[in-house]
Amino acid sequence: MKGKRVGVLMGGHSAEREVSLRTGEGVAEALTSLGYDVAKVVLGGNGRGYDEQIREANIDVAFLALHGRGGEDGCVQGLLELLGIPYTGSSVLSSALAMDKLKAKEMFRLHNVPTPPYYVAEREHLDELAELHNCFGFPAIVKPRGEGSSVGLTKATDLAELRSGIELALEHDTSALVERFIHAREIHVGILDGRVLGAIEVVPKSGLYDYRAKYTPGQTEYICPPEMAATRVRGVMNLAERAVRALGCSGACRVDLLVTEGENEYVLEVNTLPGMTPTSLLPKIAASAGLDYATLCENILQGARLHANLPKSREPRRSEVNLKTSRPASLGAAKDRVTAPRVRARRAAG
Ligand SMILES: Nc1ncnc2c1ncn2[C@@H]1O[C@H](COP(=O)(O)OP(=O)(O)O)[C@@H](O)[C@H]1O
Ligand SMILES: [Mg+2]
Repeated sequence: MKGKRVGVLMGGHSAEREVSLRTGEGVAEALTSLGYDVAKVVLGGNGRGYDEQIREANIDVAFLALHGRGGEDGCVQGLLELLGIPYTGSSVLSSALAMDKLKAKEMFRLHNVPTPPYYVAEREHLDELAELHNCFGFPAIVKPRGEGSSVGLTKATDLAELRSGIELALEHDTSALVERFIHAREIHVGILDGRVLGAIEVVPKSGLYDYRAKYTPGQTEYICPPEMAATRVRGVMNLAERAVRALGCSGACRVDLLVTEGENEYVLEVNTLPGMTPTSLLPKIAASAGLDYATLCENILQGARLHANLPKSREPRRSEVNLKTSRPASLGAAKDRVTAPRVRARRAAG
């Protein structure tokens, strides 16, 4: 992988652009410090097409530091498949499923992964909201179907708040998801290539891990590892792994779960391109497992691959030609995987 040109793709057009830029800067700095040839590719905000920018950067592999719509939902992944550039994270399909909170929940239900009860509301439902909500109960959580970072998220305690919450969510998407509010502790589980790295408990001062709680220093306490019975934490981690498998995700993921006082656990979502600023949750979880930030970035990079198995329709890049002549024959089998052997990570078991 060293000797290859690594493009750190960041920015984009989603509501999470700013977070993505911070993720991208952190990742680019870490990979540069490890001796990688890194190109920062800041997408969007300049009137130019993503394809044009990516082609121009002349990269061999893409580290996706994008979040939200366009970057995390399969679109950029599809473009990279067509360009033949291996990328970090999940495939087109898994990215799309995970980003669409409704489709993800449908997959969870199909795979017996518990998730809070819900229904979908669209603009046409606003006139008959009382009937639609009926005996669903309060409080309820309202969120846009396809946003992240708690953008457009509301906790509604009555019909008026429900209505304004749905209206807010519909500013971000054409559908809103209304979920039963679960009074619970919140645990996020980090997963790398299908293996659990560890877990962190998130304790927002306001009781809701909304945008302010996520991005205002001091608004949330993080406990890593969670102060919870070991058997319970293992159960939560197991559920997180099942959620990732249900969506077929790969690479680094962060699964957000709710854990009640009683016996119940619920999966909220799988983040396929989780925040990766040096102070984000996945790096915190990795650190507690003995994996420092730069090594985590390197491990994610080494999992970069193409998933779609499209016929090659372009000239091979120069570094690919070089690699073919220099790499050991034993590595040839994993033909669509980036070819350098994985560095031994200082990753603790489990
Ligand atoms: N059904 C729910 N019950 C209780 N809290 C919830 C529920 N859904 C979301 N939340 C709170 O809102 C936060 C964001 O919700 P999440 O579904 O993870 O969407 P996002 O993609 O915006 O992170 C969660 O971390 C949690 O604190
Ligand atoms: Mg979340």
